[in-house]
Amino acid sequence: MAEESSSAAAEIGQQKYYGHKLKEMSRRAFEDLENFWSEIAENLVWFKKWDKVLEWDPPFARWFVGGVLNASYNALDANIKKGLKNKVAYFWEGEEGKTRTLTYYQLWKEVNKFANVLKKLGVKKGDRISIYLPMIPELPIAMLAAARIGALHSVVFSGFSAEALANRINDAEAKILITADGLYRRGKVIPLKKNADEALKLTKSVEKVIVVKRVGLEDTPMTEGRDYWWDDLMKDAEPYCPPEPMEATDPLFILYTSGTTGKPKGVVHSTGGYLVWVWATLKWAFDLKPDDIWWCTADIGWITGHSYIVYGPLLHGVTQIMYDGAPDYPAPDRWWEIVEKYGVTALYTAPTAIRMHMKFGEQWAKKHDLSTLRILGTVGEPINPEAWKWYYEIIGNDRCPIIDTWWQTETGGFMISPAAGIDLVPLKPGSATFPLPGIAVDVVNEDGEPVKPYERGYLVVLAPWPGMLMTLWRDPERYKEVYWSKFQPNSKLKFPIQPPAVYYTGDYAMKDEEGYLWLMGRADDVIKVAGHRIGTAEVESAFVSHPAVAEAAVIGKPDPVKGETIVAFIILKSGYSPSEELRKELRTWIRKVIGPVATPEAIFFVSSLPKTRSGKIMRRLLKAIVSGKQLGDITTLEDASSIEEAKRAVESLRKSMGEGKS
Ligand code: PRX
Repeated sequence: MAEESSSAAAEIGQQKYYGHKLKEMSRRAFEDLENFWSEIAENLVWFKKWDKVLEWDPPFARWFVGGVLNASYNALDANIKKGLKNKVAYFWEGEEGKTRTLTYYQLWKEVNKFANVLKKLGVKKGDRISIYLPMIPELPIAMLAAARIGALHSVVFSGFSAEALANRINDAEAKILITADGLYRRGKVIPLKKNADEALKLTKSVEKVIVVKRVGLEDTPMTEGRDYWWDDLMKDAEPYCPPEPMEATDPLFILYTSGTTGKPKGVVHSTGGYLVWVWATLKWAFDLKPDDIWWCTADIGWITGHSYIVYGPLLHGVTQIMYDGAPDYPAPDRWWEIVEKYGVTALYTAPTAIRMHMKFGEQWAKKHDLSTLRILGTVGEPINPEAWKWYYEIIGNDRCPIIDTWWQTETGGFMISPAAGIDLVPLKPGSATFPLPGIAVDVVNEDGEPVKPYERGYLVVLAPWPGMLMTLWRDPERYKEVYWSKFQPNSKLKFPIQPPAVYYTGDYAMKDEEGYLWLMGRADDVIKVAGHRIGTAEVESAFVSHPAVAEAAVIGKPDPVKGETIVAFIILKSGYSPSEELRKELRTWIRKVIGPVATPEAIFFVSSLPKTRSGKIMRRLLKAIVSGKQLGDITTLEDASSIEEAKRAVESLRKSMGEGKS
């Protein structure tokens, strides 16, 4: 082994608590990044091997250039060839109690048939398909069918509103929309197709709509010549569709996520790099074995579901649970009942869900045999030590490591996480521990220079990784600006070599004296409500699109269960006055424009907002007022009376409704 102090890996610093194997793997990765990734990429099936592992033209990276593969082939055909034909891919369970089981072979058959359906409807390589479905098997089937023929899927979370769906369809110029008649949520039926029809009034690109009968809603509107039932199309579909040979650098999908402006960003992921990344990260972090039963409770509408319900686990030939319903329906032990029923071994969920179950009480989990669990994971927001401990003790019975995975839509897969598949370091509740091999991160100050242990700074990534986003859909300038312009390379950043470009995550973080990383939430105007990422600007622009609203400022308020909730300060147009009715109406409005995930918890009517002299809203001050904290520096504030008014508004609402609820 090379003398450590002379190797690039020595620059990683403060790694003494890395397990030996993890440390060694990270060292190897940085010594020869290309060779390292090349060896890992060999685990996928390539129709043609790559010519070059990485072309890095900062900030644009092309991974496995010249390599040719197909995502659905790797997820399905490759497993069948390995002898997993009759292994269960998905145990599906609907909220209403219906169940379905799909083996790898059955999934393969459905995907092939649906790929042929898409082809028959005129879908070609490179076309975009929007998918607006609940958590039913048709969702991964549609994604994999799109991937099979080289079309890009753009999945839109089924909890999003018609308008949010329309925006995403328009941006991607999707040709096909796949949806369902309805979905179940906490026993109620939500007519999804009706929502989709509202969206379609605002779009021009969609030529055909395919509708899955999930609920059997009698009055589902179907437009002749445009709308087709899924089952009708599948009846006559040809059974085999050859997988389209795709360049590793061809995009696999677009997934929209919130940023700091009103317009969601179309994150584009590649085929080769992304697949290699989700394969490697799932293996490293969770060490899945052939007889594991993996349950990721996310919705496939988010990146977590793309990477760790669809592509990652299927690449590994794993058996999974897919649940379409609320965690507490019909009773708060629904999840634990599922764990017991199927003998789940690995559970991956979000801190907000853990806190919700904590609130229900441990008696619900105690009713069930959870002894099959061997590993637990979390994602989406910082996990507070209390929730970590509850998860560890009550769900894991003090036996299961907690894999706290830090990552983003943009990173494609885990970046910072304990690595049970390599070498598990001692865990600390609330820390995601260390970066995975090949990932170079640091914590920097406003000038982009590394901060000392325990100092809060911005988390940055210093070397390209295979799962990184390729760009933003049709907006490379915004890609450069959002992620690669906040920090410039400087001589103090030499990790593992002085990087030519610095990726800004938008997150605060801190390192402790042992080098463990502690993620501390967003540093930008993005809020995390129950783990869902929502831009304050997005909600503000939804507010001002209401005829009564002149100006809006939206902030995240700390919440013991959801992490954060949305609080809005509203200036009304003249002619409108504050009232309880208007408050209700605005709430409904936000649900309609964005979706129920963005429902504000409180709405305050004010006549002015705290702004800087240059007119920027000082959300920081509103945040301090709402959470009863010190205001800090207010020297740039233009009009101090706005602060007093905001305080009064918060106070009076608190008094009348109790703790800030409206
Ligand atoms: O703030 C971080 C938080 O979630 C953001 C990414 O959100 P999204 O793109 O929706 O992806 C969520 C699922 C990967 C990050 O910028 N975040 C994610 N995981 C963690 C986290 N914060 C703290 N700890 C985590 N484990």
